[in-house]
Amino acid sequence: LPCDLHAPDRKTAQGLEFGDRKSVTVLLRRIGETRSALQSARGHKRTPRTGDVLLVSSPIDGTIIGEVNEAQRDLLPDILRVAKEGFRVWSRTPVRERAACLDRCAARLVAEAPEILCLLQKEAGKTLEDAVGEWREAIDFCRYYAAEARHHLSDGVFMPGPTGEQNQLRKLGRGVFVCISPWNFPLSIFLGQVAAALVAGNSVLAKPAEQTPLIAAKIVALLHDCGVPASVLHVLQGDGKIGEALVALPDIAGVAFTGSSAVASHINRALAAKQGPIACLIAETGGINAMIVDATAQLEQVCDDVLTSAFRSAGQRCSSLRLLCLQEEIADDALSLIRGGVEELSVDDPLDLGTDIGPIIDASAHRTLTDHIEMMRREKRLLCHGKVSAGAPKAGFYLAPHIIELKRAEDLDREVFGPILHVVRYKNEDLSKLLDELEDKGYGLTMGIHSRINATIEQICARRLAGNVYINRNMIGAVVGTQPFGGFGLSGTGPKAGGPSYLDRFCVETIVTTNM
Ligand code: NAD
Ligand code: ALA
Repeated sequence: LPCDLHAPDRKTAQGLEFGDRKSVTVLLRRIGETRSALQSARGHKRTPRTGDVLLVSSPIDGTIIGEVNEAQRDLLPDILRVAKEGFRVWSRTPVRERAACLDRCAARLVAEAPEILCLLQKEAGKTLEDAVGEWREAIDFCRYYAAEARHHLSDGVFMPGPTGEQNQLRKLGRGVFVCISPWNFPLSIFLGQVAAALVAGNSVLAKPAEQTPLIAAKIVALLHDCGVPASVLHVLQGDGKIGEALVALPDIAGVAFTGSSAVASHINRALAAKQGPIACLIAETGGINAMIVDATAQLEQVCDDVLTSAFRSAGQRCSSLRLLCLQEEIADDALSLIRGGVEELSVDDPLDLGTDIGPIIDASAHRTLTDHIEMMRREKRLLCHGKVSAGAPKAGFYLAPHIIELKRAEDLDREVFGPILHVVRYKNEDLSKLLDELEDKGYGLTMGIHSRINATIEQICARRLAGNVYINRNMIGAVVGTQPFGGFGLSGTGPKAGGPSYLDRFCVETIVTTNM
């Protein structure tokens, strides 16, 4: 079962509320019912966009699963005005009331699990295991940020001072925040950004990814239901042009962006060129995430962790393993195990419980990945690949896992966002040089180490290589409040999502000094 029933010690951090196997069985039955209802709506033909209606198709099989209204750019200034008015009231609403909205939202996510999980699967092409993991993370974000706000934003912090004087540091909302999110975590990242901005006292203009607008619309409706005023939270559907127009609005207080490094740089430049108040940027982006495996590693464990890290979620996680660095002595043995594992992975309709790898999000991403594979094939670097099941829906964007061997770590110079793993071999005496090459890439998101030598682990950890480092385990699935997530350099600005400093960046600080 996808739920972590065997890890009761993780219950709090994972936001899991199922008490026993019976309730899990009930949940799975309800998911089954919701899925049948959605499947009966299949059979529609893909139709072109009309006017300001955006039709949403499933990456699983291309069927239309819903539609949303695109935001109208000429209305954005009016929406900003409403959000600014909403901010005046919301920023003065007691923190405990703002936090209570998030707690209610978490409870609704639990209560509406079947519908939400089903939508996640259909709209983002997730396996049930991935959908459950993301849904749990979304619940954790709500509860964690609610608790953090109650503890750290309510009363301010009293600072030391001379007798007869009181100094109180208060944290207040900044104003109107633009939150722009990607399609690969359309629930947890979308909600995580929005929840943090709201509980800190900001109004929010939320722009979800154009591939996954339905889950975003559902979450915004749910937050309104849970007590967030309509004037305070607005969803603006559409593609990057709408994101660009939001960033260009005057008087926004900040932008929380999660997505590609290229778009983050674009937004950074656009904000810097603007007149008026200086808006802050929180950017969480991609990485060329490496795993280093030395000759002392336990190879069966390595194989399992590589398959999970590189191919789970079809490699469409920012945390996914992109570059496997194998010490020469064990490279052939490790690759032989990994190749065996790749051949066993099932690439199929994610609604089937036996599927390991679901579809790529859309045709354009699929083409970019297949172009990369073709180039590598021509250069004779392709080592092996798995296969797509014969029964996978023909109109879906399925791609088999591929392994590519490179000569040097330098040969991979950008994030390849899919089920494609690159491998390099290194000599033990060249470890330091390899670390230099990894550092020179300028990214710093996740990293894995498999070694039984403490000195080697320390040598790697001492370098400024990644925001999240995983030793002798897989390198995906950071847990809110346990492994705050995020990188630096080309991978982001920080602060880490799901960590103790995240809310601060959505606040301004005021020191109130009182002569007693
Ligand atoms: P993307 O950068 O193409 O799009 C992200 C969002 O930005 C979308 O909502 C898009 O419409 C919007 N956008 C596009 N152009 C814009 C512009 N000029 N101005 C304003 N907004 C614009 O990324 P994606 O393909 O949706 O997501 C995949 C990327 O996200 C990968 O690079 C992945 O590594 C990264 N990611 C990072 C994290 C993290 O926490 N570090 C988490 C998930 C995904
Ligand atoms: N937070 C997600 C992970 O760690 C991206 O896999």
